[in-house]
Amino acid sequence: MARDVVVVDHPVVRHRVGLLRDAATANAGVARLVHEITTFVAYEALRDLATQPARVATPVTPEAAVERVAETVLVVPVLRAGLGMVPAVQALLPASEVACVGLRRDESTLEAQVYLDQLPLRLADRRVVVCDPMLATGGSLATVCALARRRGARRVQALCVIASVPGLERFHREQPEVPVACAAVDESLDERGYIVPGLGDAGDRLFGPLD
Ligand code: PRP
Ligand code: URA
Repeated sequence: MARDVVVVDHPVVRHRVGLLRDAATANAGVARLVHEITTFVAYEALRDLATQPARVATPVTPEAAVERVAETVLVVPVLRAGLGMVPAVQALLPASEVACVGLRRDESTLEAQVYLDQLPLRLADRRVVVCDPMLATGGSLATVCALARRRGARRVQALCVIASVPGLERFHREQPEVPVACAAVDESLDERGYIVPGLGDAGDRLFGPLD
């Protein structure tokens, strides 16, 4: 297994990943499962969020020490499928912002090309969480993480649902400083660059086919 990969290994996550893989699960079910799985993956991935001390009055004492999350995270979904992960990350975090990056895979080379870039030009001191349910060849997530790092992000983290072993190897070669969190790691890719067993085309499963 490649280094710096957190695989959320829990029966309730494995149960949901199984339902997500099932070709009989339709759009609404896929959207709900991606949301739920993302909550668990993001929870594990963001353990090191900075907090600051605060004080509150509880019903039984005038002052108690508490902690508040002190970071505003920039959430970057990779269109389209990454959009399915955004509401879960937003719900988890007290403060977040969202900027989309759109990528299209060239079906012959399997390389990702950027068609939309909403990332702020300067990301100094920002913490960036890049979301895409599938890390297949790894090219899409590596492209977006590289973009965020070139613009000066302090910390970049990749969140996905299913990653492939070859994709993780490539991703870590190209982005060795970016940790990955996911719910499952599958062994291989087919000749079209699909993860096997995977879940199929994540964008189509979530939002329907484009043609
Ligand atoms: C899927 C997925 C990733 C990419 C993964 O997007 O959501 O972005 O493929 O492949 P890679 O790791 O080999 O780069 P897709 O091209 O199907 O676009 P869509 O989400 O807009 O349907
Ligand atoms: N993109 C997907 O949506 N699924 C895969 O298995 C590979 C790339």
